[in-house]
Amino acid sequence: MVRKPTPQDKFSFGLWTVGWNAQDQFGSASRAWLDPVESVHKLAELGASYVTFHDDDVVPFGSDAATRDSILARFKGALDETGIKVEMVTTNTFSHPIFKDGAFTSNDRTVRRYGLRKVVRNVDLAAELGAETFVMWGGREGAEYDSAKDLKAAHDRYREGIDTVAGYIKEKGYGLKIAIEPKPNEPRGDILLPTVGHALAFIAQLENGDIVGLNPETGHEQMAGLNYTGGLAQALWAEKLFHIDLNGQKSIKYDQDLVFGHGDLFSAFGTVDLLVNGFPSGGPRYDGPVHFDYKPSRTEDFEGVWASAAANMSTYILLKERAQAFRADPEVQEALQAAGVYELAEPTLAEGETLADLLANPAAFEELDIEAVAARGYAFVRLNQLALEHALGAR
Ligand code: GCO
Ligand code: MN
Ligand code: MN
Repeated sequence: MVRKPTPQDKFSFGLWTVGWNAQDQFGSASRAWLDPVESVHKLAELGASYVTFHDDDVVPFGSDAATRDSILARFKGALDETGIKVEMVTTNTFSHPIFKDGAFTSNDRTVRRYGLRKVVRNVDLAAELGAETFVMWGGREGAEYDSAKDLKAAHDRYREGIDTVAGYIKEKGYGLKIAIEPKPNEPRGDILLPTVGHALAFIAQLENGDIVGLNPETGHEQMAGLNYTGGLAQALWAEKLFHIDLNGQKSIKYDQDLVFGHGDLFSAFGTVDLLVNGFPSGGPRYDGPVHFDYKPSRTEDFEGVWASAAANMSTYILLKERAQAFRADPEVQEALQAAGVYELAEPTLAEGETLADLLANPAAFEELDIEAVAARGYAFVRLNQLALEHALGAR
């Protein structure tokens, strides 16, 4: 690892990431599932501060109450021994065949009621462990066929489910916020709330939307051909960026869940620049855990698993150093000024100026030298090249 993490880095890993047995659509497992207790110890050694998990990552689906209690006691022992904390918990409402048509939006009401019970039980566990965020990734909430779902009813039921869980969190006085994780497809042909924008619009329709925000994942926005940093920016602007899932993805294809930076590296630089430095003119910042949701490739043995976990953290720190150097460079600051980046923060109407004043101002329209204004070069390419040179460590 060329860069070693510190607790200030707030690095966090899902137990389903390093723990994954590398089974895919076309082949059986190439590794054994890892014992969560071992993952906690190993991640602590590598310098992570937190773990996150689905209920079923720690307690096998269908375990009876006594088994669940003893497994959780052993897991808490590992947390105590290592000092690793649980910052986020999420629910598996996608693996078991009962959820093959979704949980909150299954056409089968019995499944919806079962799903709600499973989620609420897990909310209690999240609160007990001191987690701050409860992620909801509706992986099976969707369809393969347009005729299979009443999409109006599906949105009604999705809203009902999330509002009910959020209402429960409030009623119990838990210090938890819900973070919806968008994804366009896989495992369903089309998933509801496919992008950051869809999820933001959905949250605006909720009764308890004040404690519901987003958990955008790098690869999921990129699978939809979108700019992940742009998605983070809109979520931040809306004060809804509650959590992040960082990983790597190369273009529009299946969900690759690569190591952070192993997909679109220059886009990862932009992401870290936003997370570490914020918007050029200030504004809302993300201050939560830096959570990696990746999968160690199927080709890797356990040594490779830990090397890939370390790679996520090391790459993030390297990009952080590069992004800090970028913003601190006087030449970059001058280029940002020249490109008008800071100018955009100035309101279009001056303080006290009304639209009527603007309409009555010939200098803004009738007498404006349109050709002269149009001739301005913005020098965005120069600025981008400076960013690239910083990203490459050439400056
Ligand atoms: C994916 C998703 C999942 C979810 C996780 C949380 O890669 O499709 O990222 O890993 O984040 O299951 O529920
Ligand atoms: Mn993913
Ligand atoms: Mn994820």
